[in-house]
Amino acid sequence: MTDASMGSLADRLALVTGAASGIGRSISCRLLADGATVLAADIDTAGLAALREEVGERCVPMRCDVTDPDSLAAVGAEATRRGGLHIAVANAGRGAFAPIVDHPLEEWRSIIDLCLTGVFLTVQLAARVMVNGGSIITISSLNATQPSAGMSAYCAAKAGVVMLTQVAAMELGARDIRVNTIAPGLVQTNATSAFWMVPGVVDEFIENTTLGRFPHAGDVAAMAAFLAGDESRSVSGSLFRVDGGASTQRYPDLPAAFARLAAPPA
Ligand SMILES: NC(=O)c1ccc[n+]([C@@H]2O[C@H](COP(=O)([O-])OP(=O)(O)OC[C@H]3O[C@@H](n4cnc5c(N)ncnc54)[C@H](O)[C@@H]3O)[C@@H](O)[C@H]2O)c1
Repeated sequence: MTDASMGSLADRLALVTGAASGIGRSISCRLLADGATVLAADIDTAGLAALREEVGERCVPMRCDVTDPDSLAAVGAEATRRGGLHIAVANAGRGAFAPIVDHPLEEWRSIIDLCLTGVFLTVQLAARVMVNGGSIITISSLNATQPSAGMSAYCAAKAGVVMLTQVAAMELGARDIRVNTIAPGLVQTNATSAFWMVPGVVDEFIENTTLGRFPHAGDVAAMAAFLAGDESRSVSGSLFRVDGGASTQRYPDLPAAFARLAAPPA
């Protein structure tokens, strides 16, 4: 769908962080297809330019570092200039692999800063520039509720995002702002491409789903579109898993998988 007047989100202004790649890119494309104008925020300006080139002028590329309040404030000013924000997707994030005993403190702080504080700042900014209700969607992870050895910072940050989402839902409900989180399982993106290079680990991810497949970025985007729109008007403070059923099972043994990768061939 390219005609905004036909979409269920026509006349809505959305902010998507981490919009240049992977899940954020897919969510941006879906919200655009549903008629929204999207402030596409990312530190990757080349990726944003490519997105804009592909999807057209209702995509507004904005260089933005979600860990920097001033950078986010510039996006907020643009939203206000356009009449206020209706939808915000706090998606930017990345993982890191390090056992706790060897975890560099700087890496820990960097993951918490991006994956938890960056989401806090995005939710805060969105709440400040939403005028007449709205929908805020955070992207947490299967790792918010399912631990993975070697991913302490990421798991802790994503668990924090789930609680932050619920607190925000409590605080903002009186203004008719709904706040929900989507917890994806393994999705093939730039961030997870390394998993495809580790023998057996993707098979283990698939074995640990109930459906025998992991989700595509478009599946996460479909959930985001539902949460962004009026059909979810009574939904707030909730966690939505898009993980092929993986939360019912166990997380792959990543330390063992990476050890196999490092081991010399038998
Ligand atoms: N891919 C998965 O398997 C998976 C699973 C669960 C949750 N998630 C979550 O989904 C989100 C998106 O992940 P993805 O797999 O699409 O990753 P990705 O690497 O494809 O995209 C992440 C985007 O975030 C941007 N970004 C990084 N730091 C930023 C910053 N400081 N400010 C603004 N933008 C920044 C990057 O430039 C990139 O465009 C993340 O929060 C991730 O934790 C991913």
